[in-house]
Amino acid sequence: MGYWRWDASFSVGIAIIDNQHKRIIEYINELGTISIYHDKAKIRAVLAALKDYTVSHLAFEESMMEEAGYRKLEAHKQIHLSFIERINFFKERYENGEDISQQLMMDLQMWLVNHIQHEDTDYKEAVQAMLHKREISPMEEHIKDGWLATLRDKFFK
Ligand SMILES: [Fe+2]
Repeated sequence: MGYWRWDASFSVGIAIIDNQHKRIIEYINELGTISIYHDKAKIRAVLAALKDYTVSHLAFEESMMEEAGYRKLEAHKQIHLSFIERINFFKERYENGEDISQQLMMDLQMWLVNHIQHEDTDYKEAVQAMLHKREISPMEEHIKDGWLATLRDKFFK
């Protein structure tokens, strides 16, 4: 599996979430690119950044689902939790000297594609409806202020 490009089939119809998914894809690609140099410090830094960003993204997503009164929130949270555990497991193996970055890259890629196209797509309607109620266009690219900007800043600043 090589460089991974985001395409419209990954869209959940909510720009702010699509953009976060794109950022995670960038981290995964970065991991793939640097893994060939076996630069431990660099790989460690990307792994940490990837994990931090993913944790923020998942918490942001959970807030959106909660706000929308999404009925499968608890099940979705469990899936997120097991994903974070999976990243931790890989980080640990890396710390123990295993060269896992290629494997991790493929694993994350498969997990994320599957998760976006199934579980995330499932909350699409509920979250879009919640945003419409707040008079926010789900596909608005540049959220500067208002409720959604405040929520984003809570997790990403
Ligand atoms: Fe999710």
